[in-house]
Order: sequence, then structure tokens, then C-alpha cells
Amino acid sequence: MVLQRYPETFGAWEIAQKIVQKWSKYCACVIAHYMRIQVCRCWKGMGIMIHKNILEAIGHTPIIQLNRMTEEGSARVLVKFEGLNVGGSIKTRTAYNMIIRAEEQGVLKPDSIIVEPTSGNQGIGLALVGAVKGYRTIIIMPDSVSRERRLLVEHYGAEVILIHDAGNIGECIEECARTAEKMKRENPKVFVPQQFENPANPMVHRHHTALEILEQTEGPIDGFCSGIGTGGTITGVGETLKAQNPHMVIWAVEPENAAILAGGNIGTHIQMGIGDGIIPDVLNQKIYEDVVIITDEEALQTAKDLAVKEGLMCGISSGTNVAAALKLAKRLGKGKTVVTVLPDTAERYFSTPLFE
Ligand SMILES: Cc1ncc(COP(=O)(O)O)c(C=O)c1O
Repeated sequence: MVLQRYPETFGAWEIAQKIVQKWSKYCACVIAHYMRIQVCRCWKGMGIMIHKNILEAIGHTPIIQLNRMTEEGSARVLVKFEGLNVGGSIKTRTAYNMIIRAEEQGVLKPDSIIVEPTSGNQGIGLALVGAVKGYRTIIIMPDSVSRERRLLVEHYGAEVILIHDAGNIGECIEECARTAEKMKRENPKVFVPQQFENPANPMVHRHHTALEILEQTEGPIDGFCSGIGTGGTITGVGETLKAQNPHMVIWAVEPENAAILAGGNIGTHIQMGIGDGIIPDVLNQKIYEDVVIITDEEALQTAKDLAVKEGLMCGISSGTNVAAALKLAKRLGKGKTVVTVLPDTAERYFSTPLFE
């Protein structure tokens, strides 16, 4: 038998739900997760560690304390390094969960074609999952995303359709979505996961990413912040962390030129993966206390500092998240803990200002 990490295994989820029928679903999540860890540890002790395929290795990324970037008197800042995840980003988690839920529901069949409008990492994740599971995959992306992202999608054997970004990323993303919907109307074999609307997106962060954070930190988390692409990360992680500590503070983070939640103008920016100029359906707008705006310069400098001062090779939106986390850490002060995620690796930004 081989260790299976995803989806919730060993029946632990169902058992936990029965035990805590009268409690909240988040308590059930926590208990299921700890039961799963105990079984995994037991199996590891028996030397059973072969993954049946790369998908079983998704998740369980390290959480790392920042040492040289935090100011005296600030809270401790911990970062979950998703650049070390399978596929190099946090979006492999959502890609896998959206695909296995669609298979369970019978909407994704062996001859289906996966088509997704995405500004990048979700496309890489879907291309990876499609490769392992043998689905034809087509990714529709703005031509303003980094060249590396397009090449990675193609390297996993998926096809790419580029849509021109004429200076309004929101309009371009909408055009990508319209193209996918047209393909779906014209071909019944087309399945569009639609990460901006799909509940399987925040679900995986609620049941996995957040529970990993709770397990890894083993103590109260006082602050969490995340940039918003689909809003899946902030919604899923935020809901589970807040169920554990209702007094914690959560900040939503937006690029200066796409601060739609803060009521700003939508233009083009370099914080790829977030600030798509739309308010996504999956975003829980009640989960955060405040919206903080980060400029391109702040995001870029912080991403560079993460490499130079902390040895963390991560993308530009990781700089966004950490720039906000450092502000939150200052606000909360010494003795508190702030967590954020580094959504992807720096190695898909060679052609961007990150490497200039
Ligand atoms: C690099 C990067 N950062 C941040 C995010 C935002 O994550 P979410 O879609 O969960 O809001 C994404 C999403 O694709 C991303 O690719």
C-alpha cells in the first residue's frame, strides 16, 4: 500500500465529522487533520514513503521565520514557502483539488478537455495535473504574464492561447474568461474549472494549507495577510485560522494599480498572480479587517530582500505579502506572530524586473 495524502484519507474526515456533529466544520477539519498526521507518522515509521505519482507529494511545505528583515519591537514573521511545493507554487494545491472534485462529481470524464483562463500559476498547476492524469489541457492567459510561465505550461504538454493585455489587466482577464466560455459552448467535452468561482479552490486551503500552518506553528497566530488573485488563499486559510483564534487580525493585500477592494484605479502592475482587477466570487469579503496597498517598488524590493537577506528565492507577489506582513508585525508588536505565504518560486521571473 502507498501513502495517499490527498484527498482527505483514511476516512479521518468522515469520522471526525461524526464525532463533532454539533461543533463547527472547522473543528472537524482540525481533528481530521491531526488524525491524518498520526496515521502518516505511523506509516512513515513503517518505511512506507513511496508516492504513487507526483500529485501525492503536493503540500506540506516548510514554514520559515524571517530573521534579518523584521524590525526590533515587531512581531515574529513566519512565511510558508510554496515555491517548494510540487509545480513551484501554491496553485498546484488548487489545481489538484478542482480536478479531483470534478472527477468525483462526474463532470470531468476521461475524454474531457481542461480549459482555464488564468494569469499564470493556476495554468502551470492544471497543466501538471493534466499531464499526470492524461487530460488534454488548454490554458488561456494574458500576454503580459512572464514568458517563463507560458513556457512551463507548454513544457507540461499543455496548449497556450495568449490574449493581448492593452493596459487593463481586468479587461484582459475577462476576455480570457469569455474565450474559455465560448470554447465550452462550442465543445461539450470542454471543462472549465474556473478558479475564481470554484469552491474547491478555497476548500483546499481551509482543509490543508491552514491546517499545515496550525500544525507547524504550534501556537497562537495573531496576524495573517495575503494578496488576492482568486481570493482562495485568504478565504480558506483565513477562515480556518480565525476559527482557531477569533481575535486575530487578517489583512487583504492589493497592488497599488489594482486596488479594487480599496476603491482604486485599475491599471497594469508587476505583482503577477494578484490584483486581477475583479472581485472574485470565492473571496470571503468578511474575513479580513483591513485592506493594505503595496506599490510595485515595495513588492519588488521586498522580494529581492527575501533572496539577499533570508535566502528565500520567491516571486514578486511573495514580496507583496511580506511587505504587508512586516507592516502588520510592526502594528501588532513584540511577542505576537504574523504568518503569510510565499506563493511561488523566483525561477519563473527571470525575464521580469525581479532579475534586473
Ligand atoms: C504568484 C501568485 N501569488 C498570489 C496568488 C494569489 O492566490 P489566490 O488565487 O489564492 O488569491 C497567485 C494566484 O494565482 C499567484 O499565482
